[in-house]
Amino acid sequence: MATHILEVQDLRGYYRGTFGVVHAVDGVSFTVDRGVVMGIAGESGGGKSTLAQLVSGSPPPLLHLEGGTILVDGIDIYSINPEELRTEVKCKRMSYVPQSSMESLNPVKRIRDFIFDVVRQRTGKRIASSEEKAEVLDMAANHMKTLGLDRPVLDRYPHELSGGMKQRVVIAVSTLWNPKLLIIDEPTSALDVTSQKRMIEALLNLKRAGTIESMLYISHDLTSLRQLCGECIIMYAGKIAEIGDMEETIDSPRHPYSRLLTAAIASYDSKGRKMGELKSIAGSPPDLRDPPAGCRFHPRCPYVMDICRTKEPPMFWAGERKGGASCWLLTSQAGQ
Ligand SMILES: Nc1ncnc2c1ncn2[C@@H]1O[C@H](COP(=O)(O)OP(=O)(O)OP(=O)(O)O)[C@@H](O)[C@H]1O
Ligand code: SF4
Ligand SMILES: [Mg+2]
Repeated sequence: MATHILEVQDLRGYYRGTFGVVHAVDGVSFTVDRGVVMGIAGESGGGKSTLAQLVSGSPPPLLHLEGGTILVDGIDIYSINPEELRTEVKCKRMSYVPQSSMESLNPVKRIRDFIFDVVRQRTGKRIASSEEKAEVLDMAANHMKTLGLDRPVLDRYPHELSGGMKQRVVIAVSTLWNPKLLIIDEPTSALDVTSQKRMIEALLNLKRAGTIESMLYISHDLTSLRQLCGECIIMYAGKIAEIGDMEETIDSPRHPYSRLLTAAIASYDSKGRKMGELKSIAGSPPDLRDPPAGCRFHPRCPYVMDICRTKEPPMFWAGERKGGASCWLLTSQAGQ
């Protein structure tokens, strides 16, 4: 058995089109240990969804894998054929719930029919007899309980469900085959605070019940990141700015971008009230068709030095902490 459920090495993924070449994920390396929930945070356009799409093994047409490797449960997903990817990796080892995935529910189909379609696609079975259908519905209803969804939801149309329920239906369907790794992109962003809480609880339940083992969880929301994740990655302009233990990274970030980001992203108390004064980060993220030389954060960084403008900082694994940060300020601590 592979030590890590996910191993990403020097990953590069660019969008290529009439608009040029967007260096959306550019030299990203990290691992997710078994049982760990890894959070990914960062401003809009930082490459979080692109990273998730690459890890899902099915990037959209304009997104190209330019280099690097991705091992899911020890399997190099870009070196196997599509059929192997479908049967050996997807659903069983890894499942991906994209950003805005609740829109993927067909508005003219009841949830039960959507589930039949997915099971047919996945298993190749016809699911035509009433016995087969009853068996699938029992399995789905049982599974949906973990996500706080009652059996009558199966008979509803998507428009009869709240945004949070639709999102949980998509997650339920994506986890029917107990994937070891769930990749989930912004599941709470379109939801009100109460639905966000339910969503977090549902994801925690999936983990407690052993339905999933590990998660790659993308979010802008500090509260859900704290509640769900043991470790986290802070992404900026297609690269990892900082990686480490969730609490340590949020409570005492070392990368200047992480410091500004954690002061800027929303956090809520148990009554759903926004906590702290939100400050925006001066300047805007770079155009990734022509990213800045050196440290990509240098045009916005309050601590910028000469070296930052020309030389890209490596990841420094400094001090007692488990994590690392990609910033020249850590050089002396790292003994470089
Ligand atoms: N289909 C596409 N074609 C061209 N460029 C794209 C495409 N999708 C994303 N990009 C670009 O790739 C970069 C990374 O985008 P991505 O969607 O991965 O960021 P993100 O961190 O997920 O942002 P958000 O928080 O808004 O979801 C951005 O510069 C974005 O403009
Ligand atoms: S490397 Fe330089 S510019 Fe980049 S975050 Fe560190 S101090 Fe700022
Ligand atoms: Mg995104």
